[in-house]
Order: sequence, then structure tokens, then C-alpha cells
Amino acid sequence: PTVLSVVGARPQFVKAFPVSRLLRERVREVLVHTGQHYDFGMSDVFFEELDIPEPEYNLGVGSANHAVQTGAMLREIDAVVESEEPDLVLVYGDTNSTLAGALVAAKRTVPVGHVEAGLRSGNWSMPEEVNRVLTDRCSDLLFVPSERAVETLAAEGITDGVTVTGDVMYDAVLRVRDRTATEATVLDDLDLGRGEYVLATVHRQANTDDPERLAAIVEGLASSPRRVVVPLHPRTRNALDRHDLLERASNALTLIDPVGYVDFVELLAEAERVATDSGGVQKEAFYLDVRCVTLRDETEWVETVEAGWNELVGADAGAIRRALRRTDELPEKPPLYGGGHAAERVVDGVVAFLEPEA
Ligand code: UD1
Ligand code: UDP
Repeated sequence: PTVLSVVGARPQFVKAFPVSRLLRERVREVLVHTGQHYDFGMSDVFFEELDIPEPEYNLGVGSANHAVQTGAMLREIDAVVESEEPDLVLVYGDTNSTLAGALVAAKRTVPVGHVEAGLRSGNWSMPEEVNRVLTDRCSDLLFVPSERAVETLAAEGITDGVTVTGDVMYDAVLRVRDRTATEATVLDDLDLGRGEYVLATVHRQANTDDPERLAAIVEGLASSPRRVVVPLHPRTRNALDRHDLLERASNALTLIDPVGYVDFVELLAEAERVATDSGGVQKEAFYLDVRCVTLRDETEWVETVEAGWNELVGADAGAIRRALRRTDELPEKPPLYGGGHAAERVVDGVVAFLEPEA
């Protein structure tokens, strides 16, 4: 059988990393890169470092507004599905590449598998929330990270095909953590002491496109008692420039280009704490025992907040300042999102679906 896996944005490369190799031991995988992310530091570096198979197709879709970008993906993915005739389309996460893959498959009545199904932020103005809900509705196999996601899907009437696998990103972190000591160079490059700096990442549409929120985040981070290192997403660099905040940000913060995954895991693991609006980084912080301050009003990773390891502060400079200074002890960590064997469970689920007799 043939599985067509669709990736396109940075978080999807990280998620496909533990899954793709395993999948290829069991079935024929055709990997499609939509081209949503295309800079070396946003795309190629992950394939090289993580030894992700080279995509059979790169659709070169690039950047545009949601409709134009998703529309171009629909057209291009559809042509690949037509010629490859896959038995399943596998999608990851909640980006426009995820939705496009799922929608093409649903319209061609090809079964869809969704890794990271069942997550909800409850905020419908978030483009990713639209992608999550619609992708789950199109999916036949829903691979979810937690029991909570099972309940969320059940409340929407989705009960068939749901499997709790844990989080494939935990698998990814565990596999890379072994390599950071010998391969990561970023702490030396930036002259950073372990536990002496704050790591920050910002790229969410709601934060970059609203100049008031972006300015408040810059001021909040600038009030940190420690040095703040920010690997800057290209979207955010453009937004800082557009909103006349780049000079202020580069004076107050250590702005660097996006880094590869080995350096990122090292930066995160050795940070005193992290401030982020990323989905993936909230979980990775938890896995690496790092306190997380989330620059959003809500999160789909609610378990990390309930566990006391993640604090939602929105885009409020005062709240960010206070959160960066908190020194209370963190509670004992409950096990969340599985034990780091999610990729095996995803692959087992895919194979069982495609070869029920095997
Ligand atoms: C996308 C996802 C988001 C995910 C994020 C991960 C959607 C709707 N959003 O957001 O869920 O958290 O990826 O990083 O799918 N750009 C470059 N070079 C690149 C890629 C992007 O310069 O290689 C710039 C372009 O100006 C582009 C902007 O970043 O317009 C936004 O890129 P896009 O892929 O549309 O959305 P992200 O903000 O990256
Ligand atoms: N990441 C990275 N280098 C960076 C920033 C992030 O390797 O400079 C990794 C990060 O560890 C995470 C993944 O990229 O696993 C996706 O993160 P992003 O915040 O872009 O997307 P999200 O999870 O919010 O969709």
C-alpha cells in the first residue's frame, strides 16, 4: 500500500521525523512538501539534520494569504493524489498544509490519517483552529496525544478511528536530546551560560499582525532580568520592521535567525525559562523540564497549564514581566502526552488500517 504524507511547515518536519522512517519500513511512503516554508533555516536544515527522507514532491507553493496559499496547495496536492493513487493520506498538526492534504483526500474519497488530532484552543479566529476542526472532520484515523483529545472529539460526535498515541514531538525531543551535547554549538556561538538566559519565540498571526500586541510583547520581554534570546521567525522579523519595532527589539533582545532542531533543543533545554506563542514549544518545554510562559490568551495544550508548568499571559507587558520573575517552585510533573513511543503507535495504526489481515 501507498501512504502519501503531506508536510510543509517547520513543525511538520519535526513531527514527520520520528514517523517517516518507521513508516517506510512497513509501507511505501510518498512524501509531499507543499513548500509552505522554504528558507533554508525553516525547511532544508530539518531534512538534513534529522535525516528525513527527501520529499518525492516539492510543490513550491510559497507564501500568500490563507485562501491563495491553501488554494494553490489544493490544486497541486490533487494532481499528486491523482497520479500516485495513495491508499491513505497522512497529515500532521494544524497548518494550511494539513488542511489542504485532508481536504483533497476527502474529496477524492481517499482515507485520511491525522497526527495530532483532537486539539482545540476554543478560539475560532485562530487560523489553526479552523484547520484543526476541518481536518478532524475529514479524517478516518485520528491519532491523538491524550485522553482529553478523545473527549474533545467525542463531544463533536467523532468517536470512530480515534487512537491515543501520545505526542510524536516527545519522540522527536527524546531522539535529539542525545545529540545536543556533541552537536549543538549555539550556546558557545552566542556566549550563553546554562540556565542564565530566557529563550523566546513569537510568530502567531494574532501577535505579529497586531502592532499593539507585538509592541507589548517586545516590552514585556525587554523587562526580563535576564538576557532574552529570540530565534526570529521570518514573519516576525517582517512584522517588527513593518511596525517600526525592529530597532527597539534588537537593542533590548538578542535577535538571531531561526536555528536548526539540534541547536533549538539545546537552547530550550538550557534556558532558565521560555516565553513563546508556539504550540510545539509549550510541549517541548514541558518535556525538557523548562518553565513556560505562553504569550497567548488560550492554548490547545491545556494539560501543561493545569500541571502548573505553563502560564498563559497573553500579550500584556506587565503580565509578561511578572511571569518572567516568578520564582515559586514548580509542582511535580505528571506524565502527559505518552511515553515517547507515539510514532510506533501511529505507524501501527496506519498499517492495521491498510492491512487488517496482516
Ligand atoms: C505557519 C502556520 C502556523 C505554524 C507556523 C510554524 C498556517 C496558517 N500557519 O505560520 O500554524 O505555527 O507555520 O512556524 O499554516 N516566510 C518566509 N520564509 C519561509 C516561510 C515563511 O519568509 O520559509 C514568511 C513570509 O513572509 C510569509 C510569512 O513568513 O508570508 C508567514 O508564513 P506562513 O507559512 O504563511 O505562515 P506562518 O506564520 O509561518
Ligand atoms: N524550532 C526550531 N528552530 C527555531 C524555532 C523553532 O527548530 O528557531 C522548532 C521547535 O522546537 C518546534 C518546531 O520548530 O518543535 C515548530 O515550531 P513553530 O513554533 O514554528 O510552530 P508551532 O508549533 O507553533 O506550529
